[in-house]
Amino acid sequence: MSDLVGKLICENLKALKPYESARRIFAGGDSESETWLNANESPFANDFNIETAHFNRYPDCQPQSVLVPYAKYAGVQANQLLVSRGADEGIELLIRTFCTPGKDSILICPPTYGMYAISAETCNVGIERVPLNTDFSLDLPAINAHQNKVNLVFICSPNNPTGTSIGKAQLQQVLEHFADTALVVVDEAYIEFDASNTWATELAAYPNLVILRTLSKAFALAGLRCGFTLANSDVIQSIMKVIAPYPMPEPVAQIAAQALSPKGLQQMSEQVDYLQGQKLWVKQKLSQLPGLELIGSDNANFILFRHPQKPALMDFLVKNSVLIRDQSKQVSLDNCLRITLGTQQQNEKLLALMVRFFTQQRELA
Ligand SMILES: Cc1ncc(COP(=O)(O)O)c(C=O)c1O
Repeated sequence: MSDLVGKLICENLKALKPYESARRIFAGGDSESETWLNANESPFANDFNIETAHFNRYPDCQPQSVLVPYAKYAGVQANQLLVSRGADEGIELLIRTFCTPGKDSILICPPTYGMYAISAETCNVGIERVPLNTDFSLDLPAINAHQNKVNLVFICSPNNPTGTSIGKAQLQQVLEHFADTALVVVDEAYIEFDASNTWATELAAYPNLVILRTLSKAFALAGLRCGFTLANSDVIQSIMKVIAPYPMPEPVAQIAAQALSPKGLQQMSEQVDYLQGQKLWVKQKLSQLPGLELIGSDNANFILFRHPQKPALMDFLVKNSVLIRDQSKQVSLDNCLRITLGTQQQNEKLLALMVRFFTQQRELA
């Protein structure tokens, strides 16, 4: 860092390590020659059409062609919805809108998705951490003790990387406890894999409820960067003060609208069914491998497991061009790896390699 940059960079960014996304860790990789099972993406690449006639114009800030079908899909009103550059932008917008830098804090429940903390840090907003219980449920007494100390409570359900969903009674208690002091943000990025547990129908009952959604997972559009914030209209109107004037590129809006058409929704639902089937099969195969312990639950499109030979296994898979995600730096997840479900062919390749690894280990012993 040059003297000038060192002098000018914001104090809170000096020690900050950027989020290690799956794509950053293996930058320059190639999805043709490598098997990517590390970013909870969909293995399906669906076809879309692009109409270029209006590319000379700025796009709508909040395109109705996306808002209206998504509102219908999620069962909310269009004024309870905001579309953004992925759920990640939703996280950042919430922090920028509702937390004053250097003064306010958010609450997170690790092990969980890393971007809540990174976004807070980049905004110079404090982070209170209340680890999940050993069964990955919420530690309610410890969370409740933070009343009046935090403005946003982030709860990921189904949780990345544990695949567990938070019980209705627990979330209800958090919403009620923080009713007058904080927004409770339920991150439903993986909700299509656990559809009956959505909170989208509860917005009228809880003015402090906010829900995050995305097209990156079940809708197979991680490359599109399109996510949604669902909340009561006063929350949405407040975020609209902060959002960029043109956050939705025209091609993104066009593709999102196609993904949300009846045909797109049908395709999504069939692809989710396929991945749910793969999940059962892969889990069953994994449970037969020596020393491997399945961790958490399977309410999303990934499986978490622990193995004492985690470092050697990870190296072996990377050397053989199969990429999965190391989660062992997270609290309570020592020696844990996360597998994103791929196509049957990709899953078979991964499992065959794992069997080979354990056979070699046995021979060496
Ligand atoms: C729990 C969770 N929330 C949000 C996101 C980010 O979603 P998007 O791609 O819409 O920014 C992810 C991505 O992995 C995630 O796991």
